[in-house]
Amino acid sequence: MYKLLIRPLFFLFDPEKIHHFTFSTIRFFNKLPFVSGIIKSFYNVDNKQLERDLFGLKFKNPVGLAAGFDKDAKLFNELSNFGFGFIEIGTLTPKPQDGNPKKRLFRLQSDSAIINRMGFNNGGVEAAVERLKKNKGVLIGGNIGKNKVTPNEEAVEDYKICFEALFNYVDYFVVNVSSPNTPNLRELQDKEPLTKLLQTLKDLNNEKPKPKPILLKIAPDLTDSQLLDIIDIVSVTQIDGVIATNTTISRDGLTSDNKTEMGGLSGKPLTNRSTEVIQFLSDKSNKAFPIIGVGGIHSVADALEKFEAGANLIQLYTGFIYEGPKLIKDINKALINN
Ligand code: FNR
Repeated sequence: MYKLLIRPLFFLFDPEKIHHFTFSTIRFFNKLPFVSGIIKSFYNVDNKQLERDLFGLKFKNPVGLAAGFDKDAKLFNELSNFGFGFIEIGTLTPKPQDGNPKKRLFRLQSDSAIINRMGFNNGGVEAAVERLKKNKGVLIGGNIGKNKVTPNEEAVEDYKICFEALFNYVDYFVVNVSSPNTPNLRELQDKEPLTKLLQTLKDLNNEKPKPKPILLKIAPDLTDSQLLDIIDIVSVTQIDGVIATNTTISRDGLTSDNKTEMGGLSGKPLTNRSTEVIQFLSDKSNKAFPIIGVGGIHSVADALEKFEAGANLIQLYTGFIYEGPKLIKDINKALINN
């Protein structure tokens, strides 16, 4: 029904407007009596075999919603009804910011892809905390970043502010230094600044009575030697894992007219590169740390490939837009007895 009726209709409209319209619609329907129960009973696959124990957390299944979809933590309760095992909110920054001027979100339909240059538009971490207080039991990842106006030399402070504000309201943290849409952000992936940033957060975390898992989200555009650095950094700082990958700045193999739009590319064209990165990290580190695999999962086969490459959990964003919520159910069903 989604691909036959809803998607063709949605794809007639501006992607960002439809995103907000979808949020309002999902929220509206979930408020009607029985509807959230009906959605849950249709999409949820409850099975012990799907459960994963990772970083001291229990995931009811290994299929999550990637960061950027529910940036402001406005819809995580309702979105979890579609069968996700966990939801990552953010990227959040200390202060609210508008992000880049519109238009900044583009569908590349013939490539089953999206280009976005949103630029961390969000209402700020404090506003998100208020909404997270209404969590009805969803396992939440808190993806954190820095404000555009904050120079890289002061970036650590921004991450610390977000970390402290979210600490009691998320289950794990993701340090995002891999978005291509905040100028110079990806320079924080270099060995020295990245070690400093992660070590600072790790130290802060260790002061807490019960520390939370900290993960690093990386770009698919890192070279092999940069990926080896990442393995080193994880080992030195003892963070809990890596999310591979964010969107790419590569435009290889695209056919759509709007392929030259600036921003990060996600979806099908990213599938193989993100799997390659997962495989590389898993092989070269001898599976030393857990990996959340994300990038171009549009089918059950894509999901299984990510697990085979070494992912412990997976996330999707663009595949959710193109294939609809049934994909989550299909992946979970396929994982039983796999
Ligand atoms: C993203 N992504 C993203 N990632 C992140 O860490 N913080 C963010 O704020 C965003 N924002 C965002 C907006 C939009 C419109 C898209 C399409 C993507 C990246 C996302 O979480 C994921 O890593 C990539 O999109 C690759 O996965 P898919 O989309 O190919 O499944």
